[in-house]
Amino acid sequence: MSELIEKYFLTKGFLVEDRVIREIEKRGGIDYLEKIEPKLNFTSPIFTLKNLPVDNEFSIVKEFHLDGYPGVSNSFVDLFRDRYDSLSSKIRSRTVSHHFISIARAKNLEGRVDVIGTVSDISTSKKGYRIVELDDKEDRIKIILNPRMQELILQDEVIGVTGSLANDRKAIFADSIIRPEAEKHIETFPTGPKVLVVSDIHVGSKNFLHDSFMNMVDFVNSEPISYLIMNGDLVDGIGIYPDQEKELEIPDIIKQYKRLAELISLINRNVRVIIIPGNHDIVYPTEPQNPLPPEINNLFPPNVVSLSNPVWVDIGKRTFLLYHGTSIMDFLESMPGTSLNDSDKVMKEMLKRSHIAPIYGKNLSFIPLKRDFYVMDPVPDVFITGHIHDHSASTHKGIITVNASTFQAQTDYQKMMNFNPKPSIGTMINTSDLSFDLVKF
Ligand SMILES: [Fe+2]
Repeated sequence: MSELIEKYFLTKGFLVEDRVIREIEKRGGIDYLEKIEPKLNFTSPIFTLKNLPVDNEFSIVKEFHLDGYPGVSNSFVDLFRDRYDSLSSKIRSRTVSHHFISIARAKNLEGRVDVIGTVSDISTSKKGYRIVELDDKEDRIKIILNPRMQELILQDEVIGVTGSLANDRKAIFADSIIRPEAEKHIETFPTGPKVLVVSDIHVGSKNFLHDSFMNMVDFVNSEPISYLIMNGDLVDGIGIYPDQEKELEIPDIIKQYKRLAELISLINRNVRVIIIPGNHDIVYPTEPQNPLPPEINNLFPPNVVSLSNPVWVDIGKRTFLLYHGTSIMDFLESMPGTSLNDSDKVMKEMLKRSHIAPIYGKNLSFIPLKRDFYVMDPVPDVFITGHIHDHSASTHKGIITVNASTFQAQTDYQKMMNFNPKPSIGTMINTSDLSFDLVKF
């Protein structure tokens, strides 16, 4: 492909920089060049990046890297301070009818008070009242919830509380909880790229649904789709759970990625394929996760963009938040009566909190960072998860939420857990009007 691009420029009498060739390959190679030829700027003898039209359809908004942004700290203090600062300011900006004050100041007042804090403990009193310990970095206070307040409260989330100070000034009797809820006003545009969203490919598993995946490839190649998102668990990996080798068709992780690369190579080069890792991929299991390592990325064709988990990207005029979704398990454990088919309920709870993984110290472990990378900032137009092999697609307060479907059939382990995955469903997002369609492969 690179020789063809070089030849294209040479026949026009121009030398071309290597990085221009690499960028053109990413955008679709020679097909892309022919499409944009009228826009090409041939004013200097060497064709540099400056001569190439700006690709303003796609850009990375916020990406994690262990050696880069936002920086590793030596404790979790920075992360929780940052969480409190960013979410408390979101809570303040959502309401004008409340005057939030510090917990220390509230303790010196009488009657009604409004405070904001991080939930550091949740317990139930002998009389059946839920008691929340609220911490605002300087002081803490008990919040006593009326039994009629049934709403979900999670460990380590940041909430605003309005209520009445107890006579001994050691507790607040809450009458409402205010959250930093994420919301957007939907604006429509006459045009915008189409994005197909899938997840949990699990190449290498005996249960990988090869035929469905090939149907998806045919669909992408025959429809006007500009972007394909694969939201983690690209391969099945090795040693992820006990006796996994019995369920593997390809028992070597590098060979699994080579197979994935072969499959992705069947997709038209003018489709940009965005991949992020999940808990089965060849990246450490703590979160956030780096993009796949260079030796794996080098296996893929140049139209693949390999990013971190989570990551924020702009496609067309829309911001997408891609998160594999490992924290969903911690949410489900805190939500009585839910099942692995309740991805939509969980994503709604994430939006309410403007946070995709508030619970610390359960199933998911985190890297101590200088900033809390899991605050939903910027607020996305489209929020995508995967991980639990469910499928859901909805709109909540102007934000599209998608729990992207898998290409792995029910495993023995899932059978034992009585879990029925919903595989082989593509979610196609029209970025022009933020509508979506489902496609069964
Ligand atoms: Fe998975």
